[in-house]
Amino acid sequence: MRAVDIIAKKRDGDALTREEIDFFIQGFTRGEIPDYQAAAWAMAVYLRGMTNEETIALTLAMAHSGKVLDLSSVAPRVLDKHSSGGVGDKTTIVVAPLIASLGLPVGKMSGRGLGFSGGTLDKLESIPGFRADLDTDAFIAQLRQHGIVVSGQTHDLAPADGKLYALRDVTGTVASLPLIASSIMSKKIAAGAQIIVLDVKVGHGAFMKTDAQATALAELMVQIGRGVGRSVAAIISDMNQPLGDAVGNALEVIEAIETLKGRGPADFAEHCLEVASQMLVLAQAARDEADARAKLGAALADGRALQKFAEWIEGQGGTARVMDDYSLLPRARWVEPIAAPRDGFIAGIDAQAVGLTVMDLGGGRAQKGDAIDYAVGVVFCRKVGAHVTRGEPLFTLHANDRAKFDAARVRLLAAYEFSDTAPPPLPLIHQIIR
Ligand code: URA
Repeated sequence: MRAVDIIAKKRDGDALTREEIDFFIQGFTRGEIPDYQAAAWAMAVYLRGMTNEETIALTLAMAHSGKVLDLSSVAPRVLDKHSSGGVGDKTTIVVAPLIASLGLPVGKMSGRGLGFSGGTLDKLESIPGFRADLDTDAFIAQLRQHGIVVSGQTHDLAPADGKLYALRDVTGTVASLPLIASSIMSKKIAAGAQIIVLDVKVGHGAFMKTDAQATALAELMVQIGRGVGRSVAAIISDMNQPLGDAVGNALEVIEAIETLKGRGPADFAEHCLEVASQMLVLAQAARDEADARAKLGAALADGRALQKFAEWIEGQGGTARVMDDYSLLPRARWVEPIAAPRDGFIAGIDAQAVGLTVMDLGGGRAQKGDAIDYAVGVVFCRKVGAHVTRGEPLFTLHANDRAKFDAARVRLLAAYEFSDTAPPPLPLIHQIIR
């Protein structure tokens, strides 16, 4: 078999066999198939798609490109959640300690920023000292000791996805249903959690732009997970405007901590509670959603969730004091409010434009291996549905470069749509697939 023939077969729109997919993924993982061939192949998959059988074969090949953890010796049931990628999505930073504070272990292999969407690991790494590069032994030790771990792909867990993910980020091959489904599910299978809630984003700021695409992605991932004996549910949630108010790595960490303190933006707090409730119900740790909400509310109110956050961050080498002192996080040189250019209702905020703007400020990568500027980003003061008067602050921009600040200001203002009449409210949750 030759990699070039497999690329050409996919380029011509034919379905690959399981053997061909295994050959390609194994060769890529070992470094025998170079990045340029893998990038060409990813583009062929992006343009031609895959059958469900091919996607399942790709998922299993990537999951088995390294170790597949068996966590049964650590805990009978480990929980996990995963987002398909959005703008301002810092849900894991709230939900993981919230669930773990109820005594349910959370073990999660997470990702970095991808295209215009942010990545949980990049956000967490804005906390001084935080280590997201645990090896398998450290992953298991952290889970055993603290009941919570969030780490990146190591060389031994789904390494094929780690390599492909970094290539996709910089080759315009992110928004592909088979590549997203296999990327997410290979990590989930390799990291060993038995109970998984998938948060599939839909809208301008998501890779899936329509409900039909999001539903297809969610159903395929649920099918893959159940096929390997995991309990999986999926939430399809709205990404037509950024989630919460903050977009940008350190800014999102602050917002997540505020949410754990019960002071987060209403849309983001509600989203976290919905994801966490689905996890509790799926794990049969709550009778129903109302019971789940009561348990989660208590863990937030009495400080258990925040205390678990501190334990988690310290366990992974980070400075938990950030939760009392945000000045320990990187802060941008220019932080300025930007005023509304007119009176009216905010009818839309193009989340993808926001994500791309934060990337251009330095908050994401343009090339594989680029350094991230953790401090930059935007904090919205008013979102869709709000009425604003001209001159009132619309958002605060955080930048480390004046020219980039000016460009971002123009671009963000252009991302707003105003109307003279109140727009219909945006839903938070579109559908739940159990
Ligand atoms: N999250 C992932 O882990 N992979 C993707 O491809 C998209 C989002």
